[in-house]
Amino acid sequence: MENIAAQNYFGGGRSSTYDRKIRASLPGYEALHAMVDDFLRLALPERAHLLVIGAGTGMEVLALGSVHPGWRFTATDLSSDMLAIGRANMEAAGLADRVAFHVGEVHELPDEPSFDATTSILVSHFIKPHEERGRFFRSVASRLRPGAPLVTAEVVGDRQDPSFAHFLEAWKSHYAAAGIPAQEVEADFARTDATVSFLPEGDFASLLAGSGFTEIRRFFQALLFAGWVARKR
Ligand SMILES: C[S@@+](CC[C@H](N)C(=O)[O-])C[C@H]1O[C@@H](n2cnc3c(N)ncnc32)[C@H](O)[C@@H]1O
Repeated sequence: MENIAAQNYFGGGRSSTYDRKIRASLPGYEALHAMVDDFLRLALPERAHLLVIGAGTGMEVLALGSVHPGWRFTATDLSSDMLAIGRANMEAAGLADRVAFHVGEVHELPDEPSFDATTSILVSHFIKPHEERGRFFRSVASRLRPGAPLVTAEVVGDRQDPSFAHFLEAWKSHYAAAGIPAQEVEADFARTDATVSFLPEGDFASLLAGSGFTEIRRFFQALLFAGWVARKR
């Protein structure tokens, strides 16, 4: 079910506007990715194999690959349109020869604890049922070496909490102030509302703990976006 939602969400023309729109949407997108590197640099040796889930237009591989010449990547995405743009960006940056591409789900990769680290940036909120999200993170954990770091970011929030509506309005207002026309703001937020799943942050941390991760720490918050680091148990 989540496959279709994410594929439609990022398919066709929307993949070509992604790089502009994500920067308009998420305050601190570049800073978030710089912090992904901060945590991975601390944890990984010169040579490492990283699993980049939802690699999209290539931000993680571009940011990490350019400064860590000994790191190689397996880049997955459900959307072939997004990954095609990502691949072209990686080729232009001279990084593609260190990347294996996989259009599809993590659970389709060999079930071996072979990766030294993983990133899942702005991905898991597209997986709607709670149990599906648990299965997703369990399949990630089983592909990581013991102790390997996970860096993840997603939207979080409790719709019952009055702060949710407040933060949602501020998010919309941020997007509009970044120059997105009013009609597109409404259409994009309606699509986001129908497609993504907000988990209260405590539930999200518990979900990671129940999926084989430990040392779960939050390092980032911007409006309804949150970033976490953890380790495979
Ligand atoms: C918001 S984009 C984030 C792209 C990139 N990580 C970034 O930070 O810019 C989310 C990406 O995750 C992909 N995606 C969604 N669900 C996925 C899943 N279960 N497995 C792999 N990729 C997925 C989407 O197709 C999309 O390209």
